[in-house]
Amino acid sequence: ATGLSTAAKAAGKKYFGSATDNSELTNTAYVAELSNTADFSQLTAENSMKWDATEPNQGQFTFTQGDQILQLAQKNGQLMRGHNCVWHEQLPSWVTNTKWTNATLTAAMTNHISNLMGHYKGKMYSWDVVNEPFNEDGSLFSSVFTQFIGPSYIPIALKAARAADPSTKLYINEFNIEFSGAKATAMMNLVKSLKAQNVPIDGIGLQCHFIVGQVPSNFQSILQQFTALGVEVAITELDIRMTLPATTQLLQQQQTDYQNVISACKNVANCVGVTVWDYTDEASDLSHRCAQFSWIPGAFPGMGEACPFDASLNKKPAYQGILNGW
Ligand code: XIL
Repeated sequence: ATGLSTAAKAAGKKYFGSATDNSELTNTAYVAELSNTADFSQLTAENSMKWDATEPNQGQFTFTQGDQILQLAQKNGQLMRGHNCVWHEQLPSWVTNTKWTNATLTAAMTNHISNLMGHYKGKMYSWDVVNEPFNEDGSLFSSVFTQFIGPSYIPIALKAARAADPSTKLYINEFNIEFSGAKATAMMNLVKSLKAQNVPIDGIGLQCHFIVGQVPSNFQSILQQFTALGVEVAITELDIRMTLPATTQLLQQQQTDYQNVISACKNVANCVGVTVWDYTDEASDLSHRCAQFSWIPGAFPGMGEACPFDASLNKKPAYQGILNGW
């Protein structure tokens, strides 16, 4: 018998993993499967290492929740991806509400990175240092960071990250760069310009929040184009959602879609691993729809069943699709 991670490693990859959240860790059946290293050899904290969770007040750091997930990974012998240092969402209000200057926000941002990554120094495979920097048209997303620091917040963050933990891979993580277009081009240009300026950048994370039947056909070529720039790539937040109710046909298409995503990573040498953005669907009783455990029904009303396991921890056709892809 093989598993999702066993098969990924047989294909030369570093890991196959899942995101998870602290509230889910009281469910023993869920934790047992999450800890099954034949399937999952890597974890990402879905929320608990974000800025609002780790520095709710300026200079007051709390790592209890993040530590709980790291300790589970360490107990299981799983790698960890750190998620994330600098993002315009899930910021505490002190970050969004302060009248900063360039110098004071730069100091607050680099202090956040130093403390967060310093706390986990030597323990993380990689860190999403910058999350979702771009608009769809390839311009920089306007945030407190671009407003008070400007575009240089990105190289400043990466340099602070390298100083905080020289042993971890530094990533920029983004969505809608999985197909050709202005956003993917902007990310490629950013990688080129960072490399040209000797700014540390090791990897690009492609989130891969896909819709059944709509996996981009040139996804593998995009992965290749990124790795050709001298960075590794990872699929960091994979799920493939559908408009409910699910049908046999949709679940079969989802299997094919998962297989195609995985085989694209398999075929690109420097695609190092795949993480699903939690591994179990919501319960089909929609009154309990966020009970276990995908974020999809909350974020995309009317959609769901995006994961490789159903809410009762049964393997779906999507699970077989992943195995087939490796
Ligand atoms: C999501 C979590 O899954 C939710 O629980 C939370 O309410 C919002 O954030 N891109 C990212 C992730 O980089 O951090 C997001 O995670 C999903 C989209």
